[in-house]
Amino acid sequence: MGKLLIGNLKMNILSSYERDRYFSDFNLEMKKYDFPGSSLVLCPPSLHIEAFRNNFGETLSVGAQNVFWEDKGSYTGEISPKMLKNFGVEYVIVGHSERRKFLGENGRIINAKVTASLKANLKPVLCIGETRQEKDANQIVKVLTLQIREALHGVSKLRAGSIIIAYEPIWSVGTDKIPSSNEIMEAKVIIRKIIFSMFDRNIAESIPVIYGGSVSSFTAKQVCVDSAMDGALVGRESLIPKEFLKIAGVIGC
Ligand code: PGA
Repeated sequence: MGKLLIGNLKMNILSSYERDRYFSDFNLEMKKYDFPGSSLVLCPPSLHIEAFRNNFGETLSVGAQNVFWEDKGSYTGEISPKMLKNFGVEYVIVGHSERRKFLGENGRIINAKVTASLKANLKPVLCIGETRQEKDANQIVKVLTLQIREALHGVSKLRAGSIIIAYEPIWSVGTDKIPSSNEIMEAKVIIRKIIFSMFDRNIAESIPVIYGGSVSSFTAKQVCVDSAMDGALVGRESLIPKEFLKIAGVIGC
């Protein structure tokens, strides 16, 4: 299985002008590489999803940064899994620490979003991870267990195979602080054990577990290669096509 590199562009790219510049930079850089289209994913703000689909075609997959849990109706401001699917979206980030923090997303909400995404045949990228305080208090197992159990509650074995887990220590997101490769490897083992206890060995071993938090072309070897992760979720560096694609090279997409 090739590595998976997902770019989370967050609330950036403020105009169509900026977007076009991003596309031309990206398209130019892309010519230097030959990555399979299935290994790269970009998650732009939803306003840009259609343009991203049109620009990139088969060269990479497009993901969303958020989703609602109903298919349609009176839910002002929300975007449904079906809409995303119909606009060519394949992945959706769910449970990102910024949404947990600023939008009050809790386990119940995240579970509804994961369930609805799977039903619409989207691949949820479930973000989990501990705070610095929780790490210092040796609570990583407890925190990851709770987050995964809540998020995947009621998910069938049949659907579970489409999930991607992104281990993102909250203290590492946007901070330039990274865990050691051993710490990441330990987290991966914990995650696989939790998934095994909820589903079965096959699912536990086959779903991609990727790392997120201050990934750059400099840190990618430590946080993704040395730690034997299945890929990476990249925030800031995904805004710089050259760097994003360098990371893809380092991790072996
Ligand atoms: P960062 O963000 O790469 O800027 O630390 C990661 C993320 O939020 O997924």
